[in-house]
Amino acid sequence: MKRDYDSVYQQLAALLEGETDPVVRMAEMAAVLHERFDFWWTGFYRVTPRPEGGTELLLGPFQGPVACIHIPYAKGVCGTAWARHKTIVVPDVEQFPGHIACSAASRSEIVVPIFNEIGAVTAVLDIDSRELAAFSDDDVPGLEKIVSLL
Ligand code: SME
Repeated sequence: MKRDYDSVYQQLAALLEGETDPVVRMAEMAAVLHERFDFWWTGFYRVTPRPEGGTELLLGPFQGPVACIHIPYAKGVCGTAWARHKTIVVPDVEQFPGHIACSAASRSEIVVPIFNEIGAVTAVLDIDSRELAAFSDDDVPGLEKIVSLL
């Protein structure tokens, strides 16, 4: 399915102009993507220090059902995208070893890492669908460009 990510990019660029707070930017981005494309779950996990040491992915702004709060490094699709520094497209979550099922209704997903100026991952964008193979490599450039607005 071809999605018109360019128009979402333009909309978000205008909406976020002058807004510097990262939570605001993530919240509006999740809302616009979720509403425009009717995804099942659209949101962010941020790389965050754990009280006991090290870092993990911690739930951030999202749209959709209640989600898992903590995701360890290299676990699930989100933790794997963080570890690999690469966008991951999962056409069938049941075929992804270690997939974390926050919602049994989720059948496919895409996770896009977000980098800071020195190339470290600071967060990931996770989008889930109730349909199998809702995402493909066609979605990667558009979503990677959108998260560059963060
Ligand atoms: N499925 C994800 C976990 C996050 S939720 O789907 C919102 C994963 O395997 O990382």
